[in-house]
Amino acid sequence: VKKIAVFTSGGDSPGMNAALRAVVRTASYYNLECYGVREGYNGLINNDFTRMGPRSVKNIITEGGTILKSARSKEFMTKEGRQKAYDNCVKHGIEGMVCIGGDGTFKGAKIFYEEYGIKVIGIPGTIDNDIFGTDNTIGYDTALNTAMEAIDKIRDTATSHNRVFFVEVMGRDAGFIALNSGLATGAIDILIPEKKDSIEDLFEVFERAEKAGKSSSIVVVAEGEKLGSIYDLAKATQVGFPDYDIRVTILGHIQRGGSPSCADRVLASRLGYGAVIGLMEGKTNVMAGMQSNKLTYTSIEEAIKKHNEMDQELLKISEILAI
Ligand code: F6P
Repeated sequence: VKKIAVFTSGGDSPGMNAALRAVVRTASYYNLECYGVREGYNGLINNDFTRMGPRSVKNIITEGGTILKSARSKEFMTKEGRQKAYDNCVKHGIEGMVCIGGDGTFKGAKIFYEEYGIKVIGIPGTIDNDIFGTDNTIGYDTALNTAMEAIDKIRDTATSHNRVFFVEVMGRDAGFIALNSGLATGAIDILIPEKKDSIEDLFEVFERAEKAGKSSSIVVVAEGEKLGSIYDLAKATQVGFPDYDIRVTILGHIQRGGSPSCADRVLASRLGYGAVIGLMEGKTNVMAGMQSNKLTYTSIEEAIKKHNEMDQELLKISEILAI
C-alpha cells in the first residue's frame, strides 16, 4: 500500500490521539501517504480527508479525546452511505485504512472490506476493554484510574457521614472497569453483568459488614449490571436496611476524558505502529492487539464475536478482601 487513511470512531477514549500519532508517524517513516478522516465514518462519507504528516500530530500524545473527532455514523450503516464512502476513498487513492475504535467501528470496517475490498486494520480504542484479541484496549487503563480516583474521593465523604454509596461505572455490557476499580478501592461488593448477582447476596454482604463493625461502605455497580438499575438497587437496600443513609453516584463521562496514562500511551504507540506494519505486510480485516506483551493480529470477526473471560480469581480476591 502507498496511501492510507486513519480515523477514530465510536465512543472516544484516552489514548486515541497517541494511536493516531503513531499511525501518522510510522506511515511517514515508511514513506506512505497518510490521510486523517474527521468524525469517523461520517468523514469518509462527507469527503472530510486531510493529508497528515509528523507535524500534524505534534503535542497530541498527552491529550485526551481525539483531534480527528469521533462519531457513531448512522449513514454508514446504509449501503448508499458506504458507496459514498468508497467513492471518496477511490478519489483519494486510499488502499488501506486504520480504524481506531470499539466493536461498532470494527463491524463497519468488516462490512466495508467485504463489500469493497479496501484493506482495513483495527486498533482497539475503547474504555470498556470488551474487545477480544488484546489484553487491554486503549483508554481502559486511564478510565480505570479516573474511576479509582473518583471512588477514593467518595470514600472520604462516605466515611465522614457513615453512608452507603452505590457508585456506577461505565463499561457498556462488560464489568472490567467495575471489577478492577472496585478491587482497587476496597468496595464492599462489586456488581457486574458477568456474574449472577442477587439482592439476597447483596443484603448478606451488608449484614456481614455490619457484624464486622463497618460504618460506611461502597458498592461498585457496572452500568450493564442485569439485576436492576443502580437506583433500583439503592431503593431495595433502603427498604431492607431502613437505617442506612444511602447515596447514589453515577461517574459517567468523566471516565472517557483526561490525559492518557503512561500504559495507554505506550499501548497506543505500539498498536499504531503495528497497524501500519500490518497493512504494509498485506494484512487485512484484522485487529492489532497486545497479548502477553506481544503484538498480535486477530481477525476482526473474532475480535467482535469472542469475549475476554472475566478473571474468576480477581472476583474471588475482591470478595476475600472485602471482609
Ligand atoms: O463504549 C464506551 C462507552 O463510554 C460505554 O462505556 C458507554 O456505555 C457508552 O460508551 C456511552 O455512550 P455515549 O457517549 O454515546 O453516551
